[in-house]
Amino acid sequence: MKIAVIGAGSGYMPGVVRGLLYRAADLSGTEIACHDIDAAHLDVMTRLAARMFAARGADLTVTAHTDLKPALDGASYVFTTFRPGGLAARHLDESIPLRHGVVGQETAGPGGLLMALRSVPVLLEVAALAPPDAWIVNYTNPTNIVADAVARHTGARIIGLCDQSVGDTEMWADLLGLPAARLEADWTGLNHATWATRVRLDGTPLDLPALLDDLAVPGGGATPWRDPSRMAELAKALGFLPNSYAKYYFFHDEVVAELREKGTTRAQDVRAMLPAYYAGVAAEAERADPDPSRERGGGEHGEFAVDVICALHRDEGRRVIVNTRNGGAVASLPGDAVVEVPAIVGRAGPVPLTMGELPAPVRGLTQAIHAYERLAADAAVTGSRRLALQALLAHPFVRSKHTAESILDEGLAAHRRHLPQF
Ligand code: G6P
Ligand code: MN
Repeated sequence: MKIAVIGAGSGYMPGVVRGLLYRAADLSGTEIACHDIDAAHLDVMTRLAARMFAARGADLTVTAHTDLKPALDGASYVFTTFRPGGLAARHLDESIPLRHGVVGQETAGPGGLLMALRSVPVLLEVAALAPPDAWIVNYTNPTNIVADAVARHTGARIIGLCDQSVGDTEMWADLLGLPAARLEADWTGLNHATWATRVRLDGTPLDLPALLDDLAVPGGGATPWRDPSRMAELAKALGFLPNSYAKYYFFHDEVVAELREKGTTRAQDVRAMLPAYYAGVAAEAERADPDPSRERGGGEHGEFAVDVICALHRDEGRRVIVNTRNGGAVASLPGDAVVEVPAIVGRAGPVPLTMGELPAPVRGLTQAIHAYERLAADAAVTGSRRLALQALLAHPFVRSKHTAESILDEGLAAHRRHLPQF
């Protein structure tokens, strides 16, 4: 078997290698074909992977490619995890909207539209070059817009991934004082806009409104990914659990003020740590039994993706929260929308579980986000400026035509070389 990894020079690659090792017995004899346009980062990561596989006696081989075609030829699974334009482009995605008083946010915000415009053309190229029966297992963001564009505009099979549901379930377990491993939440909605009204402990439904009434709102503790204090405050109002990205919708203006005060974008912060991070990975790749830093993608990220590939390949029928065609699972969204829901994943692909209506307080918001995402996907495929503008007009953060136009015009100009369709 062959798994192609597109974007294998990514800082998240050590976590992917760990994920492959953890399922090595189920993937025995597999070629991991690593591709990146950054030859230096690709070299570091492929040396690390080969060394880690050898050290643990895993029957996995590694090949390195800077051209797409040889990486994709004969692949059964195409794992996409690249960031088009890198962190320099992410900085623009985050900072251009902020100049106009809007949270940029590289996935959920208007920054996500700019990223979608760059990601989708590359994914369309990957889909065209990959074998027609290959599964594209995609982490490239915005994962739901990318999955929607590829699914509707090509014949390719694609699953959109995000490990947020795992991390958020852990955050809520912490907040509620319950053991994460025994908790199962029905996260439903759209990527980075999911909600859970049903949560079970060892299979028994919890009385969430009552638990949330008693929940004490903790102070502080925010990380770049989670803000437990605000999430607790919001959940107490809603009576159900919000995904961490709900912060940007329900605390938008406070976040704008904080980001302005902070003065650097998340892209700049990550960029500042990467040279030392890659140097550390390179040093580990020389050791007999490498143990690289878990600073990037060190949590569930890699194992989550490899579990999905194994579920498809081995017809496991595993319950995983993925982004896939709705088909009626979420009654409040169109049947052909890409939704993020629990699905049973086996050889035939994900079969979404019936989730019913979205909870009333966030139903309209989630429907608005869907309208934005659909327009964003079509804009990214067609290169239509009008569709891109309509996407921003539909975006819940953007409440002004002039703001939408400014963000779009500045974004299109700044990213011109990554936007062949415009
Ligand atoms: C979470 C999200 C991902 C996103 C990442 C960014 O894991 O689910 O979709 O790419 O955060 O993390 P970073 O450390 O680059 O800000
Ligand atoms: Mn995500």
